[in-house]
Amino acid sequence: MRIGIIMNGVTGRMGLNQHLVRSIVAIREQGGVRLAGGERLLPDPILVGRSEERLREIAGAHGIERVSTDLDSCLANAADAIYFDATLTSARVDHVRRAIAAGKHIYCEKPLAPTTAEALDLARAAERAKVKHGVVQDKLFLPGIRKLKQLVDDGFFGRILSVRGEFGYWVFEGDDQPAQRPSWNYRKEDGGGIILDMFAHWRYLLDHTFGGVTAVHCTGATHIPTRVDEDGRRYTATADDAAYATFVLKGPQGGGGGGDGGDIIVQFNSLWTVRVYRDDLLQIQVDGTLGSAVAGLRTCKTQSRAATPRPVWNPDEPNPFDFYRQWEEVRDAAEPDNAFKVQWELFLRHVAADEPFVHDFFEGAKGVQLAELGLKSWAERRWIDVPPLPKGEGARG
Ligand SMILES: NC(=O)c1ccc[n+]([C@@H]2O[C@H](COP(=O)([O-])OP(=O)(O)OC[C@H]3O[C@@H](n4cnc5c(N)ncnc54)[C@H](O)[C@@H]3O)[C@@H](O)[C@H]2O)c1
Repeated sequence: MRIGIIMNGVTGRMGLNQHLVRSIVAIREQGGVRLAGGERLLPDPILVGRSEERLREIAGAHGIERVSTDLDSCLANAADAIYFDATLTSARVDHVRRAIAAGKHIYCEKPLAPTTAEALDLARAAERAKVKHGVVQDKLFLPGIRKLKQLVDDGFFGRILSVRGEFGYWVFEGDDQPAQRPSWNYRKEDGGGIILDMFAHWRYLLDHTFGGVTAVHCTGATHIPTRVDEDGRRYTATADDAAYATFVLKGPQGGGGGGDGGDIIVQFNSLWTVRVYRDDLLQIQVDGTLGSAVAGLRTCKTQSRAATPRPVWNPDEPNPFDFYRQWEEVRDAAEPDNAFKVQWELFLRHVAADEPFVHDFFEGAKGVQLAELGLKSWAERRWIDVPPLPKGEGARG
């Protein structure tokens, strides 16, 4: 069974590497996605963008025939059922609206929109048009995070007390060497900013792994005031490049008996201005009454209550403990697959075989909401409650 996908933004970092090469091309190479009835679903992409030359180059390198620089004519082709968007955050709403109007099922990168109101509007429009909709929530499919989720489901932690997340690395300013990220990331007017970018991830990661986010406190910063863009021009960084946040989660554990009502306290640093001294670019530590775990992108280590050391504070002696050796690696249940590809396969099955898919536009709107409230908390220097968002009638999960 062929399924046509209009892929917009495949000349960009995410569109090319994660969505085209590691997902759609990989799915084609493995012979498609197997459906419950035994048939195989084979994605047939058309690459759409602004530079035909660049699109032809990419298509040629990956055995793809169809390219176009005319989005509207692609959307008018009834033979392609899905529209995918990995263009700039600021361009997404317009593209997605046009795709909904054309009756396409839609899958797109996060954040779904620059504001919660626009994100909810897209979700409702997609429901009204009875098209299927999904947003990338790739971190949930990382092996390290899946192991963490398994530990939560197994009750390994006892009562979860706190979660600490460290995300980030040094993004070069672009002067003595090129920056590793596109310059629009550092311009608010172009949809940039680490809060909008990363809180969209932290929302689904926390909601789905530990419990729903109910409050946020955030201090942002623009630590690097000017940077140099792709053309060598110095520009003013108008967007935040660092966020120091605390979240409160309603944990799965109900009343905790500790006077905290079972809430989980989360501290999360998101920084494009930090040098890495940890195991991975994202590291999450969970501490519970019965055990703790530290997860990276692929790995997860645990320390049970029984294995917990009893250190004694004594600065007069060299530290006798090798704390790192006291953790135990969680085994991989299976050979890990690319997180983006795993989610693509779920979405394709959702479209073709109506299998459930919880990562819809209403979920995407929650990510935008957390970013928006994080920015508000920073501006007003106060805690902000995160109210529940409405869900669509047809929303699943
Ligand atoms: N899931 C993740 O982990 C993750 C990571 C990074 C970025 N993202 C998201 O992916 C999206 C793309 O980010 P990126 O880092 O790949 O950016 P990028 O700048 O590398 O790529 C942007 C793409 O959009 C195209 N584009 C730019 N302006 C356009 C316009 N006006 N009209 C149509 N197309 C236009 C570019 O040609 C390019 O193909 C963003 O929304 C970002 O938030 C997600």
